[in-house]
Amino acid sequence: MKIINVTGARPNMMKVAPLMEAMKKHRELKPVLIHTGQHYDEKMSKVFFDDLSMPEPDIYLGVGSGSHAEQTAKVMIEFEKILTSERPDMVVVVGDINSTMACAITAVKLHIPVAHVEAGLRSFDRTMPEEINRIVTDSVSDYLFTTSEDANENLKREGIPDEKIYFAGNVMIDTLLRHREKAQKSDIIKRLGLKERGYAVLTLHRPSNVDGKENFKRILDAILQIQKRIKIVFPIHPRTLKMIKGHGLFDFAEELKNLAVVEPLGYLEFLKLMTDAKFVLTDSGGIQEETTILNIPCLTLRENTERPVTVTEGTTAVRQEEFLSYGTAMQQRGL
Ligand code: UD1
Repeated sequence: MKIINVTGARPNMMKVAPLMEAMKKHRELKPVLIHTGQHYDEKMSKVFFDDLSMPEPDIYLGVGSGSHAEQTAKVMIEFEKILTSERPDMVVVVGDINSTMACAITAVKLHIPVAHVEAGLRSFDRTMPEEINRIVTDSVSDYLFTTSEDANENLKREGIPDEKIYFAGNVMIDTLLRHREKAQKSDIIKRLGLKERGYAVLTLHRPSNVDGKENFKRILDAILQIQKRIKIVFPIHPRTLKMIKGHGLFDFAEELKNLAVVEPLGYLEFLKLMTDAKFVLTDSGGIQEETTILNIPCLTLRENTERPVTVTEGTTAVRQEEFLSYGTAMQQRGL
């Protein structure tokens, strides 16, 4: 049975790695790894293959950046050619990025069964591009592997029959637990001159936070206040870097003496950075789950989350407005 596994962007890598490894243990399976190239920088892609000991992709589509329509279309056009020549028995997609949805639609139209790993997550916010990707991918998939009970409920509510839903657990967390010890050996804490629990970590990349100048300014205003009390390490996503420069805010960020803006980090380095942090500020979905397992407090800079268990059972608080008003409130008090 030939199975095509799709990866495309940074948050896909840690989900695909354990799947490829598990499939390789079964002689009757022939796993093929395809990288769409949605993320292509060394630091957004290659380093993850090295850190996670993932095999080189069998096929690289090299689609790169573009508008949502362009990126989705490019993946579909290239992936269709691969499916026609490779004729797999199944396609496995993970997560909620544009490549996930594009490959699922392409496969199902060629009558190739699709499995979606991390199905059923819903933020109920259709302004989020990932929410559209989740809804579309789940609606065309044949096998839906879920990570939480709420995901099962969401799928059932959308009319997906029980027999398509497999409550399988969280492969991203499998990867974390597997690499936890190895990550301890990373020298990132020393390299950045940090002390255990003496710093916070910040990640930001969602269009809702970084694309609009006003919102981004409010976030930086709050960060300005927080970094007066604790050092903040900010591994900056390429789209955030582009936006911060475009908004003319980069010089301001550089002036914040206790905010360390660094390049995107590898998987093991970032895992170590989270493990030793006092708290994490983020708008990422995956980091909410990772901090929950690591038992590190996480403030999610969004108005909603598709991962409610990280709030009810984990360490996450989703408080966008409170966070944004923090800077202003502090300033009003002359702090
Ligand atoms: C994508 C996913 C998002 C995921 C995130 C993690 C979608 C809709 N979004 O968002 O779910 O949480 O990845 O990183 O699929 N860029 C580079 N180098 C790269 C990759 C991107 O410079 O290696 C820049 C490009 O200028 C691009 C921008 O970042 O325009 C955005 O990249 P894109 O892949 O469109 O989406 P992300 O915002 O990274």
